[in-house]
Amino acid sequence: MEVQINARKALQKKHHTILFSGNNLKSIESEDLTKDEKKYVYDFFKANVKRDLCFLNRYDYLIVIVRPSRSSGHQETEKFRQIGAKTWSYIKLAGAEKVQVKSLGDHVDILPAFIEGMALSSYEFIKYLTDTKDKTMLKEISVVGMKETDLHYISCVISATCKARDLGNEPVNHLSSEDLSEAISRLAKEAGFKFDFLNKKKIQSLKMGGLLAVNQASPYPPTFNILEYKSPKATNKKPVIFVGKGVTFDTGGVSIKPAAGMEKMKADMSGAAAVAAAIYGIAKAKLPVHVIGLIPSTDNRIGSHAIVPGDVITMYSGKTVEVINTDAEGRLILADALHYAKKYQPSLVIDLATLTGAAMMAVGEHGIVGMEKNADAAFQLLNHCSENVYERLVKFPLWEEYDDLIKSPVADLKNIGGPQAGAITAGKFLEHFTDYPWIHLDLSNAIIDRTNSYRTSGATGAGTRLLMEFARNLKDL
Ligand code: BES
Ligand code: ZN
Ligand code: ZN
Repeated sequence: MEVQINARKALQKKHHTILFSGNNLKSIESEDLTKDEKKYVYDFFKANVKRDLCFLNRYDYLIVIVRPSRSSGHQETEKFRQIGAKTWSYIKLAGAEKVQVKSLGDHVDILPAFIEGMALSSYEFIKYLTDTKDKTMLKEISVVGMKETDLHYISCVISATCKARDLGNEPVNHLSSEDLSEAISRLAKEAGFKFDFLNKKKIQSLKMGGLLAVNQASPYPPTFNILEYKSPKATNKKPVIFVGKGVTFDTGGVSIKPAAGMEKMKADMSGAAAVAAAIYGIAKAKLPVHVIGLIPSTDNRIGSHAIVPGDVITMYSGKTVEVINTDAEGRLILADALHYAKKYQPSLVIDLATLTGAAMMAVGEHGIVGMEKNADAAFQLLNHCSENVYERLVKFPLWEEYDDLIKSPVADLKNIGGPQAGAITAGKFLEHFTDYPWIHLDLSNAIIDRTNSYRTSGATGAGTRLLMEFARNLKDL
């Protein structure tokens, strides 16, 4: 059940209500509060200068006063996403499913973040629970004092992020590569973008050797998904391409992963989820851009047909690769997609992938490791966007010295480097399959064990808000 976000002209009585007072608490004077309540709010904020929220409990509904502080900037915006999440945690205790929000001052810049935080924090992946009668789910946020177009955009962002989370959280026995294509096809129909996918036969005829090698031991066929949204008002002349790693489950293959935590690898298609969901959101919001999504998809399995260490494979580009570790599968399927991207003569390609544990070790779950080739200005823009949505980038280098680490004596490349600089050698590997301005994002924030404010545990939908924000700020590159 997705949260509906609507505009409302005036507050309704006896509803769970959130009032955004601003620093000027006097703004509550004109509201429908008793004298005692107003006094309580004044006294509360006087005695608790660091608190943002004040609750008025009225038997069967709650009124929450939010006092935004004065400063601005992306840290402050993030704070209001978190305040939104905190507000929902209280309102949920009150059993509410519908809330109304009113801005009493001029807080249009902060209100979207608050709504986003509240809605995203209410997300739960409960479709496989057979008993949900005790669950309180947020169904509706009605907003007084915001433009309908602004609200529509926020609802596109929220809806897209939740779609990405849904895809990421779906286990492989319910989401094979073909299921993923079907899911994307449904998103395409709903939001209005073009979608097609190449089946195994076509992938074989194109000789996408990376994708086929990873797929060798899978019970499911691979797919190669192509998404396109072209606004008639597109401001970019040549398309911007998003490439997403669509590994529907990563066992590690013959270089098998340890058992502990392996279930998380159902979300190893988080890059794909972000790409599909962002294009869904961009199309729904009708942003004036031309974007293409490429999603190579398979699971990475063990079996008698599986690739083994030492195998030499020929990639779609014609380059040969010695597979040293079958768990470095993401770069094999992405390389084929990056080569495929060349035919569009894109102005920029951004790939998103849960590619390495090394990126996670380096920056943890609070950031994304980014690398760039011939795309300095685009990276700066993306970096700015990443601060706005608080999916911050950490830039790693692609120095040529690292190339030595992925040289193979028997093939053009090998698929892993040494123990050092694991995120970078993965990036360096991919670089060999690009010939256009390119940004690589290793999504270390895509899968988390414990809920952190509005980022709910499991698949976070990372990258979705970032790509939408990038598309929103894109002029021409
Ligand atoms: N999907 C994993 C990386 C990963 C692990 C992402 C855990 C998020 C959470 C990727 O396919 C992988 O296994 N990478 C290996 C590469 C190594 C063999 C060079 C890794 O990082 O261990
Ligand atoms: Zn792997
Ligand atoms: Zn993987």
